[in-house]
Amino acid sequence: MTTPASHPLPLDALFLPAGVTGLPMHAEQSVQRCAACAQLLSPLDAAPDCPRCGGLLEIIHAPPRDAGGATLSATAIKQQFEQHCCARPLGHASGVWRFESLVMPGAGPSIVSHPEGNTPLLSRAAISRYTGCEGLLIKHEGHNPTGSFKDRGMTVGTTQAVRIGARAVACASTGNTSAALASYAAQAGIPGLVFVPAGKIALGKLAQTLAYGARTLLVKGDFDACLKLVQQASRELGIYLLNSINPWRVEGQKTIVFELLQQLGWNAPDFIVLPAGNLGNTAAFGKALREANALGLITKMPRLVSVQAAGAAPFARAFREDFAARYTVQAETIATAIRIGDPASWDRAVRAIRETNGIVITADDQAIIDAKLTIDGAGVGCEPASAASVAGVRQLVRDGIIGTHDTVVAVLTGHVLKDPGMLVELHQRDDEVRANRPIEIEPSVRAVDAVLREMHGSMS
Ligand code: F0G
Repeated sequence: MTTPASHPLPLDALFLPAGVTGLPMHAEQSVQRCAACAQLLSPLDAAPDCPRCGGLLEIIHAPPRDAGGATLSATAIKQQFEQHCCARPLGHASGVWRFESLVMPGAGPSIVSHPEGNTPLLSRAAISRYTGCEGLLIKHEGHNPTGSFKDRGMTVGTTQAVRIGARAVACASTGNTSAALASYAAQAGIPGLVFVPAGKIALGKLAQTLAYGARTLLVKGDFDACLKLVQQASRELGIYLLNSINPWRVEGQKTIVFELLQQLGWNAPDFIVLPAGNLGNTAAFGKALREANALGLITKMPRLVSVQAAGAAPFARAFREDFAARYTVQAETIATAIRIGDPASWDRAVRAIRETNGIVITADDQAIIDAKLTIDGAGVGCEPASAASVAGVRQLVRDGIIGTHDTVVAVLTGHVLKDPGMLVELHQRDDEVRANRPIEIEPSVRAVDAVLREMHGSMS
């Protein structure tokens, strides 16, 4: 199925016009703008949201220019990205900083990079068969240094923390953001503070956060309570907020889309499918596509598909009513990463879905587990929330919205080892036919032989 080519917005609607002068340092390259009231802020302002109306901030860049100040053509921008792939020293070879001109132009010596990104675009017959989509590609963000896509936003957010001289950084998290913050804050030498819902984050994520040395607060409440608390603490105590409401985080996360487009030779796929919780990634994907389209890097808009867990789906409910109202829910799902009832990037995500003729659907816990067993069993592996994207593709093929031969990129957002507790429990369940139960044996070759015979028996 093909999608209508949308008309790109004029460059001046999305990028800073040339010749703006008299702005503070870095502002000739980028400014922060309130998406609600259009208030402009210096790029070095640490406000977590618009000081005038409380709206979410977004970053507006100057379009990429050559040394003489002329706007680069789409071909020249693509060439620049290609050259960065083999950059020496390696800074620009990062899958985020390769796109510096569209992320944080002029970041230069402040950059805090692992490096990150450069994640694979996989094709696996077993997963394609499962979804019914032969053109399915898997963008595996679990290959990032801390095992999730959050590293892409965090390298940029932490770089900004260095640029503004932040004395501490903080976030609320369902686990992955906290692991990424802890790692990048350690590298930057800035104290990190994370707020996570007590007893509700996966073991791997908690372990990482502790290991990298962030102060970890187990809040007696859910993610939504953690987010409210960290926002208040950041305002009152002057800690720099690194949740995805931070517009620089969004800039970093845009590079998932830039990188996958580059991997596809800038031939846009028909659909890009991702799991959605706090909606930062949905917002980032929409902004990336809008900018890529305006710059002429792509000529077709893919349709974005955001997949929420059925027990945490206020955005999907609003989508069904054409976003007439905003909802909050008491969230519950096995996919703890997206156990969020009051998503912060709501307005940005509505724009992303509208501009891409996008779709928002739900996957229930059983569908998520089923998709995860298929992804894991193909040797790819992912954490539960990530599997929502593959469950979503399967659903949309069944509904006749995605065609068998459409090009579809499903994003796996986190690594299989993020949630070992859930896995060990799942594979010992009596009621799970695909469970791979561990077998206790006597230390004898005879016992091993018996297992082998049983394996061959079940395979024949
Ligand atoms: N997948 C994973 C593995 C995540 O960790 C998250 C979000 C999402 C998907 C959803 O992305 O919030 O931008 O819609 N995790 C956040 C965290 C909330 O704190 O780690 P989103």
